[in-house]
Amino acid sequence: MAMLVIGCDHAGVELKNNIISRRDEIHAGGMSVSVMDMGCFDDKSVDYPDIVDKVIDSYKLNKQNHEYVLGILICGTGLGMSMSANKHKGIRAALVTNPDLAEFSRRHNDANILCLGARGNVHLDVIFAWVKIFANTEFEGG
Ligand code: RB5
Repeated sequence: MAMLVIGCDHAGVELKNNIISRRDEIHAGGMSVSVMDMGCFDDKSVDYPDIVDKVIDSYKLNKQNHEYVLGILICGTGLGMSMSANKHKGIRAALVTNPDLAEFSRRHNDANILCLGARGNVHLDVIFAWVKIFANTEFEGG
């Protein structure tokens, strides 16, 4: 069983919900995915570092007993989430804005948290394609 640990600030609720609703399409092998939704849940303003703390704590905990854990953080730009997540020990958060970054953040950088911006005027289907690339690309090592 794979796990998706996901969180957003008030700018990212729609994108978060869209990814959660398509969770069973994320993994190429059709692995079913259980979700830890760490909020937030509406457009009431929140401080994104609080969401980052929750997602990272849950990500690290679930890594201990799940075959695959995908961590996703969403804010308006993805910048605040990535800056904040990268302050956590052992976290390599990548802000992904195109398919190449989705692939190479995994292949070359072994990124373990995917950060996305919800206000870039990019279609939900396009962003979901980046999620799938990130989740299905292995670190090549070295
Ligand atoms: C919230 O308006 C916005 O600043 C936040 O979502 C994010 O883009 C910060 O990096």
